[in-house]
Amino acid sequence: MADAEEAQVSEAQIAVHWREEEYYEPPASFVAQANAADPAIFERFSEERFPECFKEYADLLTWDAQWHTTLDTSKPPFWKWFVGGRLNACVNCVDRHLATSADKLALIWVPEPEDEVTKEISYQELYTRINEFAALLRDFCGVEVGDRVTFHLPMLPELPVSMLACARLGVIHSEVFGGFSGAACGERIADSESRILVTMDAYYRNGELIDHKAKADEALARARELGVEVDKVLVWRRHPGEYRSQSPMVDGRDFFVDELLEDHRDKTVEPVSMPAEAPLFLMYTSGTTGRPKGCQHSTGGYLAYVAGTSKYYQDIHPEDTYWCFADIGWITGHSYIVYGPLALGTTSVIYEGVPTYPDAGRPWRIAERLGANIFHTAPTTIRMLRKLGPDEPKKHDYRFKHMTTVGEPIEPDVWRWYHDVVGKGEAVIVDTWWQTENGGFLGSTLPALQPMKPGSCGPGVLGIYPVIYDEEGEVIEAGSGKAGNICIRNPWPGIFQTIWGQPERFVEIYYEKYCRDKQSTDWRDWPYFAGDGAVQAADGYFRILGRVDDVINVAGHRLGTKELESASITVEEIAEAAAVPVVDELRGRAVEMYVSLKPGLAPSPEIEQKVAKAIETEIGKIARPKNVWIVPDMPKTRSGKIMRRVIAGISNFTDVGDVSTLANPEIVDDIRHHVQSEKLARNEVPRELSPQEQEEIAAFGRDE
Ligand code: WTA
Repeated sequence: MADAEEAQVSEAQIAVHWREEEYYEPPASFVAQANAADPAIFERFSEERFPECFKEYADLLTWDAQWHTTLDTSKPPFWKWFVGGRLNACVNCVDRHLATSADKLALIWVPEPEDEVTKEISYQELYTRINEFAALLRDFCGVEVGDRVTFHLPMLPELPVSMLACARLGVIHSEVFGGFSGAACGERIADSESRILVTMDAYYRNGELIDHKAKADEALARARELGVEVDKVLVWRRHPGEYRSQSPMVDGRDFFVDELLEDHRDKTVEPVSMPAEAPLFLMYTSGTTGRPKGCQHSTGGYLAYVAGTSKYYQDIHPEDTYWCFADIGWITGHSYIVYGPLALGTTSVIYEGVPTYPDAGRPWRIAERLGANIFHTAPTTIRMLRKLGPDEPKKHDYRFKHMTTVGEPIEPDVWRWYHDVVGKGEAVIVDTWWQTENGGFLGSTLPALQPMKPGSCGPGVLGIYPVIYDEEGEVIEAGSGKAGNICIRNPWPGIFQTIWGQPERFVEIYYEKYCRDKQSTDWRDWPYFAGDGAVQAADGYFRILGRVDDVINVAGHRLGTKELESASITVEEIAEAAAVPVVDELRGRAVEMYVSLKPGLAPSPEIEQKVAKAIETEIGKIARPKNVWIVPDMPKTRSGKIMRRVIAGISNFTDVGDVSTLANPEIVDDIRHHVQSEKLARNEVPRELSPQEQEEIAAFGRDE
């Protein structure tokens, strides 16, 4: 009975702080045309039908050879899907549409400068461009099946062309987000042992032509320090024929792609038929230690999963004009700009620049002009557009049938603006919860069949059976009002295969925590630990609270605290550094750095600047800290570990918790006084945090 009482108390508490949101039903017009409108689909994907249920997704693809085993669990947790099957991802995204849709647009590229012409690329043209570039990679660069090629490309059609050219050859691509620094790119080159870097001279961002090739030189220098020598740098030019970077081309190493392509005009390359479980690409993400994790995604399972979820959850039909506003440099762009939409033969829009350039009406002008009817973006963009142009959507005559939010929790208020103003009350919204590691969605409503609830992603998607465990591995029941660790009980085709070169870490991070029996080859003994906190309401809908590990989610981008800290320590004056999240109205979370100086040095604004600059250089502008605080010492445990939750509490003006066990408890008041009085003076006091946000801050770095 004690348990029930406890549960009642916490439910009552939640009722006070956090009201249950009301449901929104999908409009009848949406339901009438939806790909998944018959509730029988839930039956088809019920647990009794697992894993065979995923044949429905795999059947969306064209296979060279049919698989004999849907799921092979003989080496857990290295699951293999569709074993025996063979296919080529490029054929599935391009070649197979030519017979019926050669002239249909595959991609529409919108440059950031508004006076520049939008480029329309048909499936036929995409096919030609991919083949020519594949011929170049094969014949000029000598890449072979299984080699890795790193890209550091911005949002131009050359990026999907490069990805699909690799896929055609069975070569593993590894795209590094264009906004990342040269050093970050170099580390990823070294980790994947790529001999080829594909980059671009320049691109537009916020009205500025950014010199991007300069980063390639930094990347190669860093890779060399780490023992990997790059042979060739292929440089696409933003304006073919014109070189817009200050960085010199290195003779014999750097080549302009547009020039090389002259030798490969109209060549075609036979697509390589790959085993379903051959790796298709790597996507690096941050984790709890410094070294980035190269998530290795498969060909057959991944492509089946993104095609299936694009069809049912994004409701993509071939005749739609689908606009996902993510960067292809992140997993969302790989799965839901390139592979999923193109596998379904739709038209996918790529926009080069920032949403608010030159003003907050830009996205709606683009949507109206292109007739985009599906829209996909992140809460950080929605917040920014709401702040800068709350009435802009009303002025434009576009109609979305469907919209997505992804990447971080969305506040119900922001959700309602998205629904009422951006969606004009007539678009369904899916709030899709998932991760780089997952390939595709894990939690979402099925838009025509399950009502929306602001702030909740919904239940597990088709064929995904989530559960919330407490620290001891006991199930936390739906409706108990208690938060815990959200896990997925079963494997699914989109799950990554391993961390590139670090299989032990793969097992340790994602499976060890709740594995019931390491000898078992029954998938039921190997729940996947997602690393997010969540609560499940009585209706089965999940509300995601955020990361439980040391990762800071800035505007939907995962940044590892260790990476931020190591970057700070490259500044010679710095002795120690700690990164913490601070709640930020626009970006969800921002980074704050606490640093202490080497003995005998005095604090100065120059040192603060150096730290911010070092982070920009090592990681990228997105990681730039909101503040750098120079402190006399860090709050530490008796064993010498920095207590991040204490400084996180100070930065966010929340309770710092028990500090009596610290080695130096007196320092806490010192730091608090310094930081908080400065924040008051700068008008940076955050609003009062919700109980969930307070919980997140208090749990930050809790493993310490
Ligand atoms: C968070 C992005 C709440 C979560 C696809 C996850 C979300 C991390 C949502 C993965 C959502 C993603 N609601 N939180 N709809 N989507 N997250 O790897 O903490 O860049 O673990 O993948 O973002 O970020 P990643």
